[in-house]
Amino acid sequence: MDISHLLNSSVSNMEPSLVRELLHYSQQPNIISLAGGLPDDALMPAYPDVNQLLDSRQYGASDGEAVLQQHIAQILAGRGLDRQKAVLVTNGSQQGLDIVSRSVLDNSATILTEQPTYLAACQVFRLQGANIQGVTSDEFGMSVKDFEEKLEEYKPKAVYMIPNFQNPSGHCYSLERRKEIASLLEKKNVLLIEDDPYGELCYEEIKLPPISSMLKTSSWVYLGSFSKVLWPGLRVGYMACDEELMPYFEKVKQATDLHTNRLAQMMVSHFLGSGQYLLHIAKLKAVYKKKRDAMADALLKYLGNQISYRIPAGGMFFWVRLPEGVSSMLVMERALQEQVLVLPGKPFFSSDHMLDDAYLRLNFTRVNEEDLDRAIYTLSLVVKGLSVDRVG
Ligand SMILES: Cc1ncc(COP(=O)(O)O)c(C=O)c1O
Repeated sequence: MDISHLLNSSVSNMEPSLVRELLHYSQQPNIISLAGGLPDDALMPAYPDVNQLLDSRQYGASDGEAVLQQHIAQILAGRGLDRQKAVLVTNGSQQGLDIVSRSVLDNSATILTEQPTYLAACQVFRLQGANIQGVTSDEFGMSVKDFEEKLEEYKPKAVYMIPNFQNPSGHCYSLERRKEIASLLEKKNVLLIEDDPYGELCYEEIKLPPISSMLKTSSWVYLGSFSKVLWPGLRVGYMACDEELMPYFEKVKQATDLHTNRLAQMMVSHFLGSGQYLLHIAKLKAVYKKKRDAMADALLKYLGNQISYRIPAGGMFFWVRLPEGVSSMLVMERALQEQVLVLPGKPFFSSDHMLDDAYLRLNFTRVNEEDLDRAIYTLSLVVKGLSVDRVG
């Protein structure tokens, strides 16, 4: 049956997300997956007894459970974001992206993103029909020069950034870069959408303020999530923003799903109130730091002079540049034949003219150290095989 006349143009042109397409492989027991952005199952706390959370059975408030909002406000104050009067609890930070996109973007709007960037954010922006323009980025985030030029050229409505341990590149904005970006945002009065699901997973002694906390005169939205530190399956995230924006976001939230699942909110709230949260984060950081170091060792041992990468100071990913001429899509296909799943970098580039097939994103948080080593060894054979094919 031809249904093409039923779909609107944004939906009929939508590309599927490669990450989500590949996720079903990562659930097969014989595959070692470095592809997802998933926490280690063994470190996930047990759920509280649902019978203690019976209040969750009735409909709830659209902006979220009051107790959870208070816990989130406390977390945000610890990050230097205490200007917000309200917090909206969302169905993962992905819904925060959807809510802000629906509220501010339309067919004529341009949004600037880092290049590369989180591909599911681009999916959301495209669904709104927005024009996405990538800004070149280095190890400290967006290039200030390119940002300034693109602000001038495109007059964007908003800019989307992941300043802490970015997905996919792992970059972390320096304090200086944060200040420079904040000052340009204020000068041009452009909305900042700051996405921070990885900020708590920091393996070095760094504490940097959100860019949102530096803005005095221009608008900001800050998105957070419990997916990377607690239970991604529960889908609990949050957004904080200027007081003026919040009533509009609340209405969009209401129209979308009335409110976030109350049982999920209460489970998160129960854990945050149990006094175990900080200890839990400390444990995640200790284990993930060891895994990060194990991946760094394996990359050096098996692929040392063939690839380039930086050791990320936090988050979940290595962003690896392959040898000249080796395609990340081909590496993914060949590695999968050897039961190792990796994510090609190509889909993370948002603007077509900057498509780059030279990177892989490797997750180090989910698998154990032995499998990490085995997976990188297998990957090294695939990469070397493709390099030889190219030369030969
Ligand atoms: C940068 C970024 N933003 C948002 C999300 C979505 O997270 P959530 O599970 O909270 O919806 C992810 C998930 O991988 C992400 O990497």
